[in-house]
Amino acid sequence: MHIGEKRLVISMGKIYVFVNQKGGVGKTTSALNIGAFLAEAGKRVLLVDFDSQANLSSGFGVNSAKPGVYELISGAAPIEQTVRETSVPKLSIIPAGIDLSGAAVELINQEAREFFLKKALEPVRSRYDYILIDCPPSLGILTLNGLVAADAVLIPMQCEYFALEGLSLLLKTIKRIQKNLNPSLDMGGIFFTMYDSRTRLAQDVVKQVQSYFQNKIFSTIIPRNVRLSESPSHGMPITQYDPHCTGAKAYKNLAQEVIQRGF
Ligand SMILES: Nc1ncnc2c1ncn2[C@@H]1O[C@H](COP(=O)(O)OP(=O)(O)O)[C@@H](O)[C@H]1O
Ligand SMILES: [Mg+2]
Repeated sequence: MHIGEKRLVISMGKIYVFVNQKGGVGKTTSALNIGAFLAEAGKRVLLVDFDSQANLSSGFGVNSAKPGVYELISGAAPIEQTVRETSVPKLSIIPAGIDLSGAAVELINQEAREFFLKKALEPVRSRYDYILIDCPPSLGILTLNGLVAADAVLIPMQCEYFALEGLSLLLKTIKRIQKNLNPSLDMGGIFFTMYDSRTRLAQDVVKQVQSYFQNKIFSTIIPRNVRLSESPSHGMPITQYDPHCTGAKAYKNLAQEVIQRGF
């Protein structure tokens, strides 16, 4: 669109999905804290809690909130009614509740069942710089919806031996989505979480994955840091709970890398 000499660019928010079918690898912690640091950097951020365990929602002190993401994808509520402000300026969230687990069952027999989240987010895309989707620990229909809605996948990986198990299935799933349902999905990258530099194993896992995936690996590694695990129980991201701890510094760097890589 041209207005005189100036070019008016209508920016569309980038949509990132945090995926790993293993539980406890840091999906929620990463979505929460990367989101908080992106907002702190002045970006408009929308978090989408797409896990019926609702850990992301409770990490902001938003509990059993209705209408939430279930009402959104089932068409029971318009998106405006599902978006909540958080304690962090510029950071909003669409919360989840336990009813989301029923959505998986309801969706499975519907036509275009992988496209519900994508369609639901379309009307608000231009209002945000980043939309971050936190997925459940499975490769079921909710995660597939996340992958179809996204521009890029971010894979948190715990630095332990069994981390690599399941990675090939995850990569196959991403390829299948790229081929059939979302050709513009970018393999954003893998980043390491809960790194303990004292263990030889953690170092070996990092080296092995780095040599295999090379430029798909984020250079920031998130250390194991107890402050990161404490902050959700206070309903705060690490930017508010303890902005100077090692975990906070790492997530700040990771958020910067997300901005720089751009995808
Ligand atoms: N870097 C870290 N250091 C210490 N504890 C962490 C770290 N990242 C996550 N945790 C804790 O580990 C558990 C699993 O993390 P979570 O983000 O919920 O994983 P997922 O969403 O993949 O299941 C949570 O209790 C969380 O607080
Ligand atoms: Mg989680």
